[in-house]
Amino acid sequence: MAEANRGFARSVQSEVYRAGLSGERPQVPVDPDALERAAAKALSAEAFAYLAGGAGAERTMAANRAAFASRAVWPRILRDVAERDLSIELLGRRRPSPFVLSPIGVLELAHRDADVAVGRAAAALGVPYVLSNQGSRPMEDVAAAMGEGARWFQLYWSASDELNASFVRRAEASGCEAIVVTLDTHLLGWRTRDLDLGFLPFTRGQGIAQYTSDPVFAELVRERVARGGGGGPRPKVTPALLRSALSIARSGARSPLVDGGVRDALRSPLPRAAIETFLDVFAQPALTWPDLARLREWTSLPVILKGVLHPDDAEHALDHGVDGLWISNHGGRQVDAAVAALDALPAIAERVAGRVPIILDSGVRGGADAVIALALGATAVGIGRPYAYGLAVAGEAGLREVVRNHLAEFDLTMALAGHRTVGGIGPESLRQG
Ligand code: GLV
Repeated sequence: MAEANRGFARSVQSEVYRAGLSGERPQVPVDPDALERAAAKALSAEAFAYLAGGAGAERTMAANRAAFASRAVWPRILRDVAERDLSIELLGRRRPSPFVLSPIGVLELAHRDADVAVGRAAAALGVPYVLSNQGSRPMEDVAAAMGEGARWFQLYWSASDELNASFVRRAEASGCEAIVVTLDTHLLGWRTRDLDLGFLPFTRGQGIAQYTSDPVFAELVRERVARGGGGGPRPKVTPALLRSALSIARSGARSPLVDGGVRDALRSPLPRAAIETFLDVFAQPALTWPDLARLREWTSLPVILKGVLHPDDAEHALDHGVDGLWISNHGGRQVDAAVAALDALPAIAERVAGRVPIILDSGVRGGADAVIALALGATAVGIGRPYAYGLAVAGEAGLREVVRNHLAEFDLTMALAGHRTVGGIGPESLRQG
């Protein structure tokens, strides 16, 4: 996407309408609700529940959308918007647009190419991609598929500091530009839909590829087996269990746990022990502010804190020298009846006063939402579930369309609201009150 562009939106519209003349429809619905319905159709009940679901009665998910719905863009006329520049400055680099792809775990639920497909699409569109700590593919594989494409790494701070340090080292070696520490998921939320289905992908060996490809983790697994901790009580061999052993074996080529291939993986206690080890180390709910200093010992990369919702926490984060804040309630997946991310933004932006960039996700469903978030003080905006839905419906091409549609709608909304540059979007771009 060209930085200064005469009409990204127009070229997307022409492409779609021209194809329509010969009876072709977009591969994925443009309407976000229709996209979600299409994903529900394409996926198993378990996969869709995991991706689409939220915590409790899903009031936070509803609040996120309601927060956007309660704001109004206030268009201005006669401002020569023939040429727009969608680019922003973020973490010391010019980015073609204010979008990033939020980390999403277990994308193998959506498509077998999972994170690799996302990486390729993100690189093609110039949108930074935050590789998930709960990825379905090792970060090295995604990095290799992305070429020069901008990537950051999401870190869930596990109970093993050796493992944390190893993840961060690997992220650096994989060309990640920043570490996004996600602090709202030190315990897994009360996921009603998943509980009803008794489905947690990690217990089936899905979404733990960063772990099973890690040498420090492999050592933790071997120690567990040596202590007689094995895989816990031998579970009944079910199709789901076989799939999980296969999934670890496939995770793959790189896993120090399964160098004997799929057959060995199915016989060995290691894959089951890997799942148990993951469940042991995943969470670190005892973390406090002083712990952040250790991350600085492990890496010199910029550190962004994700899951910030309170202005006092934003202030603490600045006191601890972080390089960016990510306002998010994890798409409503963690705390039910929590404050909407967008509602948390203005007070935090005021407190931060431009000292570090602010990224916002949770509830963003299109380009107009991005204009609203930027007007309220965000520097950049994260796309989440919609790209996973695009991946589920039509693979890499589908997710590419979803992201392209966000960019096009953003470009168009900017133009129609009277803005030539992202910097021109501010509080006065909305009707206040
Ligand atoms: C974990 O990252 C989740 O939100 O499911």
